[in-house]
Formats: sequence, C-alpha cells, structure tokens
Amino acid sequence: MHVSHARSPRREQPGPVLGLESSCDETAAAVLAADGTVLAEAVLSQLDEHRRFGGVVPEIAARAHLASLPGLVREVLARAGVSAGELAGVGASCGPGLIGGLIVGAGVAKGIALAAGVPFVAINHLEAHALTPRLPGLVPGGASFPYLLLLLSGGHCQCVAVEVVGRYRLLGSTIDDAVGEAFDKVGKLLGLPWPGGPEVERLATDGEPGVVRLPRPLLGRQGCDFSFSGLKTAVAQLVQNYPAGPLPKGDAANIAAEFQAAVATVLADRTDHALAMMPDARSVVVSGGVAANGTVRAALAAVAERHGLSLLAPPIRLCTDNATMVAWAVLERLRLGLADDLGFKPRPRWPLAELTA
Ligand code: KG4
Ligand code: ZN
Repeated sequence: MHVSHARSPRREQPGPVLGLESSCDETAAAVLAADGTVLAEAVLSQLDEHRRFGGVVPEIAARAHLASLPGLVREVLARAGVSAGELAGVGASCGPGLIGGLIVGAGVAKGIALAAGVPFVAINHLEAHALTPRLPGLVPGGASFPYLLLLLSGGHCQCVAVEVVGRYRLLGSTIDDAVGEAFDKVGKLLGLPWPGGPEVERLATDGEPGVVRLPRPLLGRQGCDFSFSGLKTAVAQLVQNYPAGPLPKGDAANIAAEFQAAVATVLADRTDHALAMMPDARSVVVSGGVAANGTVRAALAAVAERHGLSLLAPPIRLCTDNATMVAWAVLERLRLGLADDLGFKPRPRWPLAELTA
C-alpha cells in the first residue's frame, strides 16, 4: 500500500511552539514564541487528588492528566492567540516519569503534531529542567554553557554537567532517596501534611538546629553522590524515643530545623565536590521543588560564591514541574534541527546521559 503524505512536516521554521508536561502529578501546557517569550502557560496541580493517599497514585495521576490536558491545551492556545496550524512544533515530556501520564502527554502532542503537520519533539523531562535557566529573561543573555545543574526534586537528586543541548554528564546522584522524598518522609514522621517539604521548612522557622543532633551523610566523602535514607532513619529513631501521641511542637520544630540544616550542609558539600570535578563550570543552577527551600538556596549560593560563580535559581514556578520548560526545550531542539518520529515510545526510565546532541 502506498501512503502519500499531503504535507511534509515544516521543520525548523521559526514560530510558536506548544509544550506539554504530564510526567508526574502536574498537568501543564505552555505556548512560547520562537524567541522564547512565554505567550501562555497553565499548570494544574493534582495535590488534592493524591493528598489523602500521602503520595502520588500513578493510576489517579494518569486519569487526571487525560481528563484535563486537552482542555488545558485549548486554553493556552486561545490565550496565546495561536492556532494549532500556526505552531512550529509540539513537544511533551516523554520520560522519565510515570508511564500512564507520559503516554497521555505524548499521545496528545503527537495527535496535534499529526493534525497540524508540524514536527513532534519527545522531550526528556530532566533536559527540560536542565535548560530552564537559558529561557530569555531569567539571566541576561541566558545561562551560558557549560554549567553545573543541581536537580533537587521529589523524584530526582543529581549533579549534572550541562555541556551543550543534548550533552549531559552525570557527576553524581542519590544512592537511595531523592532529597524531596526525604523532606516528605520526615514531614510524615513529624505529623505534617503531604507534601512535607514546604511544611518542614515552615516548622523549622520555630526551631533551632543543633538542639538535637542528626548525621550529615557522605559529608566530605569523595565524589558528589548523595544519600538521605540514613538521615530519615535517624529522624525516625528520634521520634520513636517520644511517648506515643503527637510530638511536642517545640521538639518537632527543633528536629525540622536540624534536618533542614543537615540537608543544606550535605548539599553544599556535594556541590563543592561537583565544582571541583567541573572546573570549567560558568555558573551553578539549581532546579526542582527543593530549590524553593530558603536554607538550601543560601547554602548553595555560599558554595558557588566561594568558587567565584553565581547561583542561578529560576523562579519557583519554573523550578517545579511546568510546561514552559518543556516548550523551551522544544525550541532549543528545533533550532538544532532535532525532532522525533511519531513512533517514539515514552520512557519511564530515561537517563540524561542517553540523550544525543
Ligand atoms: O520538582 P517537584 O515539584 O516535583 C517532582 O518531584 O518532580 O518537587 C517536589 C518536591 C517534594 O518532595 C516537595 O516536598 C519538595 O519538592 N519541596 C520542598 C519545598 N517545596 C517543595 N522541599 C523543601 N523545602 C521546600 N520549601
Ligand atoms: Zn521535575
């Protein structure tokens, strides 16, 4: 059978792009102009749907993405004043992440690309985080390569040398829990609502670090891997020493403050080592939900400064999962003539190091 294509994809034409994000529990869509200006962006958080389970339930997440993504796409296109036919490309986070959500996002993006006859770009979610500081308007001229990326979220905890678009060198990563996961588990141990990160930070302001003592895992150890499960276990042991019932508020606050100080100290130490492994780094970039933490940011800024570099932290809305970063990665890839086949299969596991420039 001969299949003729009425229109071949229009590649590399400057024009607005659409990016979709559905790899975890945020449903998001964004339209960016060819120069990276954000024309419209929207994020729907599913926190309320998952809260009573104390974590993200993949099946609920996938169904919620399916229910909200098409409407969200219509909304951002309308707000941007762009029709699907005017797009220069469409991309979605295609991994790593929860497979149900990835299939929804990839499917919607492919459908639009197919109907509009424009390129489809399969975006690695970690690459989208990694390229965010190059979005126009954040850093004058955009963060220039190479830079050190600290990806600190609920699912990821990595030090990455970002060399050029598509070339990433993993310098270190967690050997057990991600840092956000540790915040969430400690939040649970202290009786705080999920997700624990912001709650622990809030509670810590009423406490003092050093009143109770917690370990600093891997501090001073060679390389820049992380470990947080021992720290979480140490918190669990502290909590077990109290009689059953709610922890006294003051003690919980002191534990939160000490835990946060331990995390910040360890992250700063690991960053120091990572910078020694990457002498050509021109800046340090922090991303992921934990980048919202003030104590963590301050500790990382101090290390960067010691190395004569600045710490670039995108605004919180661009540190947590969003579609603007996905759309920006679409632009970066299309500029290099990189697009993907509509047969691309979403990848629940997709290490940055497996990308190609
Ligand atoms: O990047 P993100 O929104 O989602 C992914 O995990 O991909 O990160 C969410 C994580 C959660 O573990 C949350 O507790 C943590 O980031 N987080 C924080 C803070 N805000 C969010 N951790 C510490 N301090 C915060 N202020
Ligand atoms: Zn993320």
